[in-house]
Amino acid sequence: MKVQELQAEILRLKQEKDVCILAHAYQSEPILEVADYVGDSYGLSVQAEKDPHQTILMCGVRFMAETCKLLSPQKRVFLPNPLAGCPMAEQLEVAELEKLKQQYPGYAVAAYINTTSALKAHCDVCVTSSSAVQVCKAMPEENILFIPDPNLGRYVAQQLPEKHFAFWHGGCPHHAAMGREDVDRAKALHPAALLLVHPECGPEVVAPADFVGSTTAIMDFAKQSEAEEFIIGTEISIVEHLQYACPEKRFYPLSSRLTCPDMRITTLEDVYRCIQGTGGEEIQLSDDVMSGASRCIRRMIELGN
Ligand code: 13P
Ligand code: SF4
Repeated sequence: MKVQELQAEILRLKQEKDVCILAHAYQSEPILEVADYVGDSYGLSVQAEKDPHQTILMCGVRFMAETCKLLSPQKRVFLPNPLAGCPMAEQLEVAELEKLKQQYPGYAVAAYINTTSALKAHCDVCVTSSSAVQVCKAMPEENILFIPDPNLGRYVAQQLPEKHFAFWHGGCPHHAAMGREDVDRAKALHPAALLLVHPECGPEVVAPADFVGSTTAIMDFAKQSEAEEFIIGTEISIVEHLQYACPEKRFYPLSSRLTCPDMRITTLEDVYRCIQGTGGEEIQLSDDVMSGASRCIRRMIELGN
């Protein structure tokens, strides 16, 4: 089937089966076009909770689908392509976290939402790139062990000098691979462009940036800005989406290496097969993991508001 035929079938089945499609902003344009809601990790988790449909298709990576299930245990939640995982989410094992906690007694553990549900069940609160500063600021604890991304953690710590942070050594393999040389090369090619970056990038990329924010915050900034050219320091799909949304402006990737294969693995065909009932994976979590991890995410939403 052609893209438009597939999209028409998905929209028909969505109505017929009363399904909601949520999509992370890194998904491809044809998937975004059939989604009911597109956003960053924080927006998706808030939407997952308030959406009235009884079935949700989460187009993104596994931890995002798990977050939907944690917030809506009574709903059926599907990941259209079961291979879509976030490498950062798998970096820290529960046993290693328990050892870390012993090294930092009295520290509250703030887990980036890019973690497994099993790990979240052992943490105090979740954060996303768009809620991390607000959530850590609102936490009553002064000492915070921030896992697993030290780049996001250090970015948050810089803005909260009243708190004391400890970090672990994980991170996004794609954003963390960006360096000063990528900034210098992109700026030399596009000297008038503003640099907009995700806080998963390292300090040598974040420091010279004109704006630092989540995927959606980067998109909103670029759409509202008076500037005409932008270098985008996050997954390359955001360059394509922005160019489509703002044809009068110019968008350049910080580097062509800044691509996340896991976010690109889900296709429109996967979405079609999943909604049709012949593909995808239904998210199932044990009761223990459900109760521990949902407490962590609900605390984020409380403090984030
Ligand atoms: P956002 O919270 O900005 O959507 O980021 C999710 C992510 O995985 C970025 O790489
Ligand atoms: Fe995970 Fe990085 Fe991909 Fe985001 S871009 S889903 S953090 S691997």
